Amino acid sequence: GLPEHIEILGGRYPTDAITNVTPAILNKLSLRLHTQPAHPLSTLRALIEAHYPDFAHLSSLSPLVTPYKNFDELSFPKDHPGRAVTDSYYVNKDLMLRTHTSAHEVEVFRKGETKWLLTADVYRRDEIDGSHYPVFHQVEGARVFSADAAGMKECQESNADLAQKLATENIVIEDVPHISPTNPVQPTHDPRHSELVAKNLKLSLNTLMLKLFGGVAGSSAQNPLKVRWIEAYFPFTSPSFEVEVFFQGKWLEILGCGVVRQATLDTAGVSNKIGWAFGLGLERIAMILYGIPDIRLFWSMDPRFLSQFEQGKITTFRPYSKYPSCFKDVSFWSPKDKPLHENDFCDLVRDVAGDIVEDVQKASNIPRINYRSMDRSLSNEEVNGIQAQVVSRLKDQMGVEIR
Ligand code: PHE
Repeated sequence: GLPEHIEILGGRYPTDAITNVTPAILNKLSLRLHTQPAHPLSTLRALIEAHYPDFAHLSSLSPLVTPYKNFDELSFPKDHPGRAVTDSYYVNKDLMLRTHTSAHEVEVFRKGETKWLLTADVYRRDEIDGSHYPVFHQVEGARVFSADAAGMKECQESNADLAQKLATENIVIEDVPHISPTNPVQPTHDPRHSELVAKNLKLSLNTLMLKLFGGVAGSSAQNPLKVRWIEAYFPFTSPSFEVEVFFQGKWLEILGCGVVRQATLDTAGVSNKIGWAFGLGLERIAMILYGIPDIRLFWSMDPRFLSQFEQGKITTFRPYSKYPSCFKDVSFWSPKDKPLHENDFCDLVRDVAGDIVEDVQKASNIPRINYRSMDRSLSNEEVNGIQAQVVSRLKDQMGVEIR
C-alpha cells in the first residue's frame, strides 16, 4: 500500500486519499532537463531567452504547488476538468505538481517583475504515445505596462519598434481582431489599452516565431514563414489566442496567450498594471527543430543521444538503434612479417556479419566488436555463431593466432 509520508525534493509530505504521484514520476523532478547543458531543451530555452534579453529569466521554481496556486488564483472554475485526479498529479489534497508554468504568474508579478520568462517542468496525466509524456517543459513569458498614459506610450513605442523589425522579414501573418464579441475586452479595461497590449503580444510573438522557425521557412520571399493567429479561451486571459506555424507542410500549434486577467494582477498586488502572457511547450518545438522522432528520447541518458548535442546549436538528430548491443572481444597475435591492418580486420568483420555490427572499438589493444541490429533484438546464439565465423576466418585467411 501507500506509505503515510513521501519524500519529495528533500521535503516530507503526508499522503491521503487522493495521492496519485508515482515513484516513476517523482524520479523526474530532480532532472530539470531545461537546465542540463547541451540538452536540446536547454538550448531551446536559451534561444528563447536570448530573444528577450531585457526580461528576467527564471528557471528554478519548485514544481510543488498548491491547487489554489495552479488553478484558483488563475480564475479556473471549481469544476474545471484539469483539477480531476485523473488529469493531474496530487501529493495530497493540498499539494500537487504544477500542470503549467502559469501557476507562477501571481508570485512573479508580486515580486514586481514587469518583463519575465519562466521555464519549468510541468506534469499532466496523459495517454502514452510518441508525442505525449506525463512530464514536459514550458516557457511562460509576460510583460506588463502601467495602465496609464505613460505605460501606453511605452507600449506604443515598443509596437512601433517591433513592427519596423518585422517589416523587412519574410513572414505572412494570418491575423484575427485583437478584440471581438467572442474574444472580449475585460470589463475593467479601456478597450484602447487592451488593443495596444494585444498588439504588443502579437508583434512580440511573431518575431519570436521568426527567430525559432525562420531559419528554414521564412528564409526567402518565395518561402515566407506562415504564422496564424486563432481566437482561444483560457480562464486567466481575455482576449485569448493560439498561435500556429506552418512548418514542413502542416499547421503546428505552438502556444497559448492573451491579455492577463485583471484578477491575476489584483491578487499579485499590481492592479495598476495591464499586460500579456504566453505559454509554450518546449518538447514539440524541439522535436521539429532537431528532428527528434519520439518524446521519450529527451529523457534518454544514452550517450548516443546526449553526445550528439552542443549547447546553443540546433543540429539534426541522427537516429541510432534502440535494440540492445552485445559485444565480443577478439584477442589474437598477428604474424610479425605481415601485421594485420585495421581495415582488413574491419572488412573481414563486415563480410561475415554485415550490418549487425554497429562499431569496432579500438580503445585497448584488443578489438571489441559491438553487435547491434537496427531493427531487431539479436539472440546470443546468433551472435556467438557469427563471432565463431569471424574467429575462424581470421585464423584461416589472415594467418593470425587466436589467444
Ligand atoms: N498555461 C496555458 C497552457 O498550458 C498557456 C497560456 C499561458 C495561455 C499564458 C495563456 C497565457 O495551456
